[in-house]
Amino acid sequence: MTRYLTLLLAPTLLVLAGCSDAPDATSDERADTPASDRQTAEGPSTQPEYTLPPEDFQAEPEAGRSLFRQNCMQCHGEDARGTDQGPPLIHRIYEPSHHPDITFHRAAALGVHQHHWEFGDMPPVAGISGEDTAHIIAWIRQEQRAVGID
Ligand code: HEC
Repeated sequence: MTRYLTLLLAPTLLVLAGCSDAPDATSDERADTPASDRQTAEGPSTQPEYTLPPEDFQAEPEAGRSLFRQNCMQCHGEDARGTDQGPPLIHRIYEPSHHPDITFHRAAALGVHQHHWEFGDMPPVAGISGEDTAHIIAWIRQEQRAVGID
């Protein structure tokens, strides 16, 4: 009898463990596997997925602003308020609790499959380093905080 109960309970527990935040999010970032991951999912890869800056790295919002303009503005807009090519990043969806810094590193290095919006996929940003992205994140978080998104 105990065994039957375990079998019945197991699927319920799995469902409870799923992500249930943000009503407008159809999936969360863990479910969003970029194309480059899928290509290597079959076997071990020697390519690092993305690089993070060293722990003592000092990210500077002002450096981030100009790196953003060089690498991200084309789609996300001069002030990260969005264009017809990409969404605003100064938006509640991208607050730190729903899109922590690691999702920015992954997005810049690996690209993003369309999942929150209707703009299509974001391609990987060629040649961007972990340090560059850390500067960009520092600027975006500063802009988010300025409008009460934190
Ligand atoms: C060619 C257009 C394009 C460029 C350039 C671009 N993005 Fe994006 N980005 C998009 C689109 C489109 C999405 C929305 C995907 C969706 O959720 O539907 C997106 C989504 C994101 C997300 C959300 C990721 C997630 O997990 O949901 C982050 C973070 C992001 N971009 C950061 C950046 C940064 C930082 C740069 C510059 C280094 C950049 N993007 C450059 C088009 C672009």
